[in-house]
Amino acid sequence: MIQPNLQIALYHNSLAEALEDIEQVGKIVDTIEVGTILCLQEGKKAIRCIRELFPDKQIVADTKCADAGRTVARNVADAGADVMTVICCASLATMEAAQTQVKQIQIELYGDWTFEQAEKWLKLGIEQAIYHQSRDSLLAGESWGEKDLEKVEQLVELGFKVSVTGGLSPEILPLFKDLSIYSFIVGRGITASKEPLLAAERFKTEIARIWG
Ligand code: 5RP
Repeated sequence: MIQPNLQIALYHNSLAEALEDIEQVGKIVDTIEVGTILCLQEGKKAIRCIRELFPDKQIVADTKCADAGRTVARNVADAGADVMTVICCASLATMEAAQTQVKQIQIELYGDWTFEQAEKWLKLGIEQAIYHQSRDSLLAGESWGEKDLEKVEQLVELGFKVSVTGGLSPEILPLFKDLSIYSFIVGRGITASKEPLLAAERFKTEIARIWG
């Protein structure tokens, strides 16, 4: 099994706060995500600034785009993003249009979606999906479990590179040990830590222990 990547989700309200964290951990994570809140607050400026600081890292713009795929994708690509997220309820036309402007799109799986839809995404040439426990579901008491593993496994079997995210900690990673996970996307597990670098290193160590 391939070793999963570690992607940091910068879910800060300001670029200044995001920079404080990314300057510490940017070198050791595989991918940097400009999170939805940061995209809304600081837009292209945030993507551009992070691209300048980390010219060789993969950068994801977590736009959760629902419409105007081509324009949104062109804008984030222009600022330096390689990848952009599109929400699963967007039309196939939006997904297809977004794909023409960025290297890859990732489908954000929220709420109701079906494996029938997922097959259509694959037919468009979309390779990546993100399986979520949303912040709001976690706050409402949801947790990771067998129901999630089954869906992730089915997506992997269909042929997706599947990333998982939402309330992850190093202690949760062993739950995924039998699955081929593309990336673990971590926000607060790193950024809310008093020592973000140490927190990111713990994730890396656990990933290497399980999949290395
Ligand atoms: C929400 C997101 C989150 O930022 C991402 O899932 C990381 O979350 P967490 O802070 O729970 O690790 O993309 O849409």
